Amino acid sequence: MVKYEIRCSACKAISENLLDFTCPLCGKPLDVKLHFEFKDIDICKDSYSIWRYRRFFPYIEGKSIITLGEGWTPLVRLSENVQLKLENLNPTGSFKDRGSAVLVSALHRLVKEQKGYISEDSSGNAGASMAAYAARAGIRAKIYVPETVSGPKFNQTRWYGSEIVKVAGSRGRVAEEAQKPQLGKFYIGHILHPLFRDGIRSLAYEIAEQCDWKIPDYIFMPVSAGTLLLGVLAGFRHLADSDRIKLLPTMVACQTTQVSPLYHLFKNLNYTPPKTVTSIADALVSNDPPLLELMHKSLKEARGDVVMVEEKEIADAHRELARKGFFVEPSSAVAYAGYKKQLKEEQLAKDSSIVLILTGTGLKTTLTP
Ligand SMILES: Cc1ncc(COP(=O)(O)O)c(C=O)c1O
Ligand SMILES: [Zn+2]
Repeated sequence: MVKYEIRCSACKAISENLLDFTCPLCGKPLDVKLHFEFKDIDICKDSYSIWRYRRFFPYIEGKSIITLGEGWTPLVRLSENVQLKLENLNPTGSFKDRGSAVLVSALHRLVKEQKGYISEDSSGNAGASMAAYAARAGIRAKIYVPETVSGPKFNQTRWYGSEIVKVAGSRGRVAEEAQKPQLGKFYIGHILHPLFRDGIRSLAYEIAEQCDWKIPDYIFMPVSAGTLLLGVLAGFRHLADSDRIKLLPTMVACQTTQVSPLYHLFKNLNYTPPKTVTSIADALVSNDPPLLELMHKSLKEARGDVVMVEEKEIADAHRELARKGFFVEPSSAVAYAGYKKQLKEEQLAKDSSIVLILTGTGLKTTLTP
């Protein structure tokens, strides 16, 4: 019995090649389907990283694991009913390390055997993360970034030793350049590659275990390309399909006014993206995300919600978190801003249990207080 399949989300064709980043037949996004149950006995309780759940990632052999100690991040109480999942404390400073660790662990041998290198496009955090894991695995990486990439993220990526290419124009142009075929290049862009998203499943398992299986009523997170949302949803779905939890938490996707395609689609509104994105939430830039249909469908099925926040609300939330001791990047504060907005609009019952995912560290921000 096969333990998993990688299937097209549209035509259902099966991909046999772990290096495929989209469906080989129709080009639509691929998805990992699991054919085994989540059982507590399979948790490796001596490991305090995502590899505690290594048996739930059957496409990775134990000997191939590439790790920098990612995952098992603290879940800290902010108030009686609100907890913060500190993904900013991952090795490169963001939740992306879960995806990079799983993706690079699954692929580095294939890339090495063919004497190739990996290619990735990113607005900053994912590129830095992928560069770090490529360095750890001893493979070369070429990271394509927008011209507007933040200085600290650019420097971090360079420190890991990968080649970095700045591309002028839209975020879509950066992806196009990264995907252009070149000798030895393996494009494994985190937005499309199904194994990156799949690595983020580990975040749902952790939240469940750290809450002692008393699943929170709501989980708020910032959403741009959708890898975080889809990864976390897949993890909770796996737990529910395995009868380990009764109900899914209500996922609330938080978007900025400037970059809000999911919000508009979800609420049946027309969306006109701005010519240039100037938001302080500079990691949330996917105006036309390739996973939009998948996000919409998955979030509707899971009875989730979307909230949109203004620049002032983000800035206030960012400052407020810092003044409570949590220094995250403005993009992460979007989740807190979204939570505060829903609370103010009385969308949440007063005693609901809430988890906010704080996705990235404040140490990469160039803003001054
Ligand atoms: C700090 C931070 N938060 C949230 C996100 C949004 O994640 P996704 O693009 O998977 O929706 C990103 C993506 O770049 C990010 O860097
Ligand atoms: Zn297909």
